[in-house]
Amino acid sequence: GDIGQCPFMSGAQKEPAGGGTSNRDWWPNELKLNILRQNATKSNPMGEDFNYAEAFNSVDYATLKQDVIDLMTDSQDWWPADYGHYGGFMIRMAWHSAGTYRVGDGRGGAATGNQRFAPLNSWPDNGNLDKARLLLWPVKKKYGNKISWADLMILAGNCALESMGFKTFGFAGGREDVWEPEQDIYWGSENQWLGNDERYDTSDGDLEGHLGAVHMGLIYVNPEGPNGNPDPLKSAHDIKITFGRMAMNDEETVALVAGGHTFGKAHGAANPDEYVGAEPHGASIEEMSTGWKNTFGTGVLDDAITSGIEGAWTPNPTRWDHDYFDVLLNYDWELTKSPAGAHQWTPTAASNARMAPKAGDANAKQALMMTTADMALKVDPTYLEISKRFHNDHKAFEDAFARAWYKLTHRDMGPIDRYLGPEVPQEELIWQDPIPKVDYTLSDLDISSLKKMILASGLSVSQLVSTAWASASTYRGSDKRGGANGGRIRLEPQRSWEVNNPAELDNVLKTLESIQNEFSGTVSMADLIVLAGNTGVEEAAKNAGHNISVPFSQGRGDATKEQTDLESFGYLEPLADGFRNYMNSKLNVAAEDLLVDRANLLTLSIPEMTVLVGGLRVLGANYDGSKHGVFTDNVGSLTNDFFTNVLDFSITWKATTSEDKEFIGRDRRTNAMKFSGTRADLIFGSNTELRAVAEVYGANDGQDKFVNDFVAAWTKVMNLDRFDLE
Ligand code: HEM
Repeated sequence: GDIGQCPFMSGAQKEPAGGGTSNRDWWPNELKLNILRQNATKSNPMGEDFNYAEAFNSVDYATLKQDVIDLMTDSQDWWPADYGHYGGFMIRMAWHSAGTYRVGDGRGGAATGNQRFAPLNSWPDNGNLDKARLLLWPVKKKYGNKISWADLMILAGNCALESMGFKTFGFAGGREDVWEPEQDIYWGSENQWLGNDERYDTSDGDLEGHLGAVHMGLIYVNPEGPNGNPDPLKSAHDIKITFGRMAMNDEETVALVAGGHTFGKAHGAANPDEYVGAEPHGASIEEMSTGWKNTFGTGVLDDAITSGIEGAWTPNPTRWDHDYFDVLLNYDWELTKSPAGAHQWTPTAASNARMAPKAGDANAKQALMMTTADMALKVDPTYLEISKRFHNDHKAFEDAFARAWYKLTHRDMGPIDRYLGPEVPQEELIWQDPIPKVDYTLSDLDISSLKKMILASGLSVSQLVSTAWASASTYRGSDKRGGANGGRIRLEPQRSWEVNNPAELDNVLKTLESIQNEFSGTVSMADLIVLAGNTGVEEAAKNAGHNISVPFSQGRGDATKEQTDLESFGYLEPLADGFRNYMNSKLNVAAEDLLVDRANLLTLSIPEMTVLVGGLRVLGANYDGSKHGVFTDNVGSLTNDFFTNVLDFSITWKATTSEDKEFIGRDRRTNAMKFSGTRADLIFGSNTELRAVAEVYGANDGQDKFVNDFVAAWTKVMNLDRFDLE
């Protein structure tokens, strides 16, 4: 070809395909629909037939574990093991993999292997963990698809603990890798790593939104103290907030920090600004996805630089023992600085403290160290009490650490049905949201007689549909909690959530309970609520002239009050549910953004979200029975009226509230009022991508497709938590 034609050679085009000023650059507030098309099959090399559970179950688990344990003491020249043991390093990798979890929205955590990708692979707090994952590559290579990175990182943490003498509580596989960084996880909006504390509300000392860390680029807190201020008491405040957002209480927090810091060391041989290169995502191509190249001395072992803090916490950093509390509580500590210039704490001369070996020379010694965050466990009165108790009761400490580590690393895996492998503990734990198994099978005849009872009960389509939606739509794919299974909508706190219209819900549940009692067989309320919703959808389709049957998968159990952790279920409360046109009045966010956020938690695609909103509106499922978005004269009839009307340009829309939250639609000619709506309604006419989908359903050939797609998306939501069906 003529090289003069090449757009790059000629200098005519400044950037390659995909470059240039994007819509998001022009319109930073545009709807983030990208979060509904993540992990497209196009990114996934495994193809749709790949079943990770089957692959994992076929692994030779005992040999795999032995290989990981052997690796711990097989020191490699390119990144030699401190003290000849990679244990501490691997624990830190596993902890940082799991530690991004936050209970507020269930996002983050170990379940996806996202530490392989930016931004996490390049967060300052994840310094040098690129090497920890590279050390694991020979094992990953050997077992290939039988072990995901997500599972391997946590398994490596467990093997590290075990190889240093700690008995873990258990391990479950089942974390499936993603192949691209998640786009839905809000890590903050600062554009500086470890920047000043913009995310703090200085008035009440709380953190922005659901964020689980005090700074961009950290897993939790600044080890040197808030904003580098070495104040252990203030550090305790930050630790309580950040660990609390991971659903850890004070006892679990103390156990985790003390248990973790029984092992390994911190690295701060010299000033990072002088010696440490770019993070992996910013490093040059020949560094081959690694980063933080260290030119100080050998760059490894006693010359390594990671956090900038220097030293080990305990005299035997490669052995499980009870020294952490011994040294923390029995010695006095004074504020010093590491060779890298970081604030840290050193035993006073009068403490006559023991010492730790040097990382690269067992015969040389180095002073022990505590970070400001460790000192919090001694200075904060609540933490001190727990520290003292654990110091005196080794069994209690070991049990608390084992359980907290298990919870930390398995928290976002969902119901125990998803746990794989021979090391899954029998004991049921409250944070797993246990649900009893059912012991009945409904025949087709049972199901049709239940449906007759439901239809004869006087409950409306709206009541049936909105109750089933309320039950199922608590599901969040982020940590696989919530959903219709368990029937927890009967229980607190769900029963009293504003979005569930408690008074109305109470009536519906009472009626359904009486059906459950009158029914000659056995049925759980969890199943009955979904069956009632399905019956409502079938009835609504019939009203629109469609004879359909909505697939029903029985087998949901009813959880008890005792099986339901009030506080942790509180985090599932939707502050907005655009599908029911609900938004907490205190929120100052655009309703359409929250609709997309919820659709993402429900793992819906853009068409699924669209068809569900359009269907739920005409079925009258608004939480408060309002008319917003009910663009039809035939409520309770499953028609595509929402779409035909939202696309109808003979209607003009005007905001009725100053913040553009609610709108009135009028006939363009007569000015007669026709409809009212919220931002979560009008967005389907306003946003061009949503409008494109709305046009499919609102066209003259759209009604059949609308009904079919609505039923499919509805069924998906009803079964989101049915991992037992797969
Ligand atoms: C290392 C801080 C909680 C396990 C470190 C380092 C820092 C740190 C600064 C040194 C990194 C380096 O320079 O190489 C903190 C803070 C915590 C916390 C501020 C919370 C308040 C935890 C928890 C665990 C853990 C919960 C595990 C249960 C470890 C381990 C190391 C480590 C094993 C040693 C890594 C190695 O030997 O290379 N931590 N940590 N930490 N942390 Fe933590």
